[in-house]
Amino acid sequence: MSRFARRRLLALAALLAPLALRPGHAAAENFPSRPLTVIVPFAAGGPTDTVSRLVAEAMGRDLGQTVVVENAGGAGGTIGAQRVANARPDGYTLLLHHIGMATTPTLYRKLAYDPVGGFETIGLVTEVPMTLVAKKDFPANTLAEAIQVIRRDQEKLNYANAGIGAASHLCGLLLMKAVDAPMTTVPFRGTGPAMQELLSGRIDLMCDQTTNTTEQINSGALKVFSVTTNKRIPALPNVPTSAEAGLPAFQVTVWHGLYAPKGTPPEVTRRLSAALQAALRDPKLVARFAELGTAPVAQEMATPEAHRTFWLADIAKWKPIIQAAGQYAD
Ligand code: MLT
Repeated sequence: MSRFARRRLLALAALLAPLALRPGHAAAENFPSRPLTVIVPFAAGGPTDTVSRLVAEAMGRDLGQTVVVENAGGAGGTIGAQRVANARPDGYTLLLHHIGMATTPTLYRKLAYDPVGGFETIGLVTEVPMTLVAKKDFPANTLAEAIQVIRRDQEKLNYANAGIGAASHLCGLLLMKAVDAPMTTVPFRGTGPAMQELLSGRIDLMCDQTTNTTEQINSGALKVFSVTTNKRIPALPNVPTSAEAGLPAFQVTVWHGLYAPKGTPPEVTRRLSAALQAALRDPKLVARFAELGTAPVAQEMATPEAHRTFWLADIAKWKPIIQAAGQYAD
């Protein structure tokens, strides 16, 4: 090779080196340049789906791209989570999931993906109260009466959840422990489908998030016995807290977060976090969240760092609780 040709090659290499040193840098600079997908790890029509669709629509406005919501239910949310853990780390495939991301690492011992190391955090989204609801003709009108029925009928009662590790599963565990009586658990791919069975009367009881139960409660289509927060919520002012209704141990709320696959460039996760924060300020989203009994997290919690800190602390909180119960998914 002539000296001139070698000099040109070295000059070209020096020009391109910065790009080569930061893989995906060019792609990150133009992000997003096409529609994105948010995977919801539960069936359509449930509380996680409801939150995700509101967030996706508002994020899309900030990003200037369509954000498509795709439901991938099953196995307590781990099927959808695995989809995202295995996706290209380019920011175009995201996961919106809840407290299940904190219980899965302990509940599931043989996962085909890393339930913690497989993800980048984008930010927390919302923390949703839960409600204990029953079919319309359930033979009780207060939590105390419902507890008597549960202790009397036990496995004759059908309790619905969205699989092991789902919020509805954890809430059911807390309820059965607090009442000290088992029920027959019926798993669904999400509490959207479970709600249809409750409304039909084929399911007796369910613990589900206000984002899925508020409108059914207010329309009289369901009975409600308590809300699982430490104070009443504006969307359901006449519903007592579990403590008021005599079961103080029955308290749980469901936090939700947004994730990307491990290895997604920091410039991309920062852009996504900015879009999430803009979505959580969106008046239309804030108003709809309030109608459904919840509210966006504070802006400073919708950051990758705050989300990761919160998530790792919640994993550590649930680990001894699950190990003491000795109930695992596999
Ligand atoms: C759950 O964990 O129970 C889920 O929120 C159910 C769902 O979103 O369908």
